[in-house]
Amino acid sequence: MGLEVIDSDVVIVGSGLAGLRAAIEAARTGGERLRVSVVTKTQPMRSHSVSAEGGTAAVLYPEEGDSLESHEWDTVKGSDFLADQDAVEVFVREAPKEIVQLEHWGMPWARREDGRVAQRYFGGQSYPRACFAEDRVGFFEMSTLYSTCLKYDNVAFYDEWFAFAVVKDDGSFAGFMALDVKRGNVAYFKAKAGIIATGGAGRLYPFASFGHSSTPDGIVMAYRAGVPLKDMEFVQFHPTGLVPSGILITEASRGEGGVLRNSKGERFMEKYAPKMKDLAPRDIVSRSIMTEIKEGRGFRDEESGYEYVNLDLTVIEPEKLVKRLTSIREICLKLRGIDPLHEPIPVRPVAHYYMGGIDVDINGATSLPGLWAAGEAACVTINGANRLGSNSTTECLVWGKITGREAAKFALSRKEPNAPKEAIQAEERRVFDVLLGPAPRVDPYDVKSELQETMEKHFHVFREGTSMEEGLRKLRKLMSEFQMGVTDKSRAYNTNLVHVMEVDAMLEASHAIAVSALHRTESRGAHYRLDFPKRDDEAWLKHILLRWTADGFEIEYKPVVITKYKPAERVY
Ligand code: FUM
Repeated sequence: MGLEVIDSDVVIVGSGLAGLRAAIEAARTGGERLRVSVVTKTQPMRSHSVSAEGGTAAVLYPEEGDSLESHEWDTVKGSDFLADQDAVEVFVREAPKEIVQLEHWGMPWARREDGRVAQRYFGGQSYPRACFAEDRVGFFEMSTLYSTCLKYDNVAFYDEWFAFAVVKDDGSFAGFMALDVKRGNVAYFKAKAGIIATGGAGRLYPFASFGHSSTPDGIVMAYRAGVPLKDMEFVQFHPTGLVPSGILITEASRGEGGVLRNSKGERFMEKYAPKMKDLAPRDIVSRSIMTEIKEGRGFRDEESGYEYVNLDLTVIEPEKLVKRLTSIREICLKLRGIDPLHEPIPVRPVAHYYMGGIDVDINGATSLPGLWAAGEAACVTINGANRLGSNSTTECLVWGKITGREAAKFALSRKEPNAPKEAIQAEERRVFDVLLGPAPRVDPYDVKSELQETMEKHFHVFREGTSMEEGLRKLRKLMSEFQMGVTDKSRAYNTNLVHVMEVDAMLEASHAIAVSALHRTESRGAHYRLDFPKRDDEAWLKHILLRWTADGFEIEYKPVVITKYKPAERVY
């Protein structure tokens, strides 16, 4: 079969919030002159954004005390001062417009008594500024964006296509290579501009809130095309993953009044964050939970071996719990037989988000002309060393819009790319070599489990140099043993083949996290080192960039953009 070429102007990889928002904006910007393709390895409504629960942050009511400055300050302080403040300004300014825009496209936001959009508290917020729709925010936002996308004749969806490589033409972006999972053939998605919106590094940890399809394929595709990764050491552990599945129990549970308790029944967050208590930022709450557990004030789940604390929602008014935390109640009832109206929920910190990602500028542009990145895959960075809850869905919307517009403008002014045929054929061959070559001697499913165990053991909430070195050695051993091969040789729906390609990306992304985490000899935000327990602004108020080379990687630095807010001690 000859190589298929699928020609359009802007190709977006990923169909979550950032990808769909980008598709709409590119389609609007280009009108009839522009064809937009969305390539997604799942189906749009199965993208991981669908499972976002608690809220989308924006300042809506300055007359009631909230302000853009307050949102900026909370975000910068929450980031442990590693956020780029020029980007935070854009983020905060554009956020309210996105809430209104979604409203106009049909988003069923929850309402206040006066009919205006309701908001609730999230961690680290000085005012309640998370807009919500029950605790199914992602589902409703995705439905709204997907149905809006379908109104544009110039947007085409390629569902169940796995993008695996960036194609270049003389140092510029020229398209993506993708595997059609349904049929087992490879196509070249030729385009003048591209956007990677594939989400974060995903399931690198066994106890994770991510869907199983969340893997770092897009991030690694950019990395191997020469675009650096930034701030990869910062992994967010959300304080409340349901034990033992890891399914998210939204921070809105605490925003609505829920409290954490240890095995003595104590509300322990009073001790660690006297002012904000259970609504301190995630890095602080997760460390506090792990401290309680380590000091013997946790519980133990006999079946999984996981230690945990309790999340007590019985203190919330029952009517409010049933109405605003509908899914949480359903999840607890169905998966644990627990009714949070009457009993506490067993929770522990769960891998939830990656602050790091593809290095981009304030418009989401990568260093490769013609290629942008948006959403969790990108590192703009408004999140620095620790993201505040409910800022990420907003970030997807804001930079989905910006990158969609910028990529469309670029495509309108650029002539057709002309990538070398040999490079495209070599990429195609790589897939068929995996499919037709020998079965792997080392089981890739075992490699994935070992990778996840290594990350959980050595790169968790608390880190330490010697342990991380051991973790890095284990990862390198796994990398050297791993073979790109499959046992199942079928073409149609070969999930074995997809899995091997995902594990390949997972190894690369884990390695980037491990290297960056060892390199940063300080504690900041979610990166807490027992051997370097203090923040060190003199040495480390900078971003770490990793650049992929054929023989390994190179480390570079980028200054943090500070406009208004000088680094200060974080007290909550
Ligand atoms: O807790 C949550 O609902 C998660 C929100 C977020 O990560 O922004």
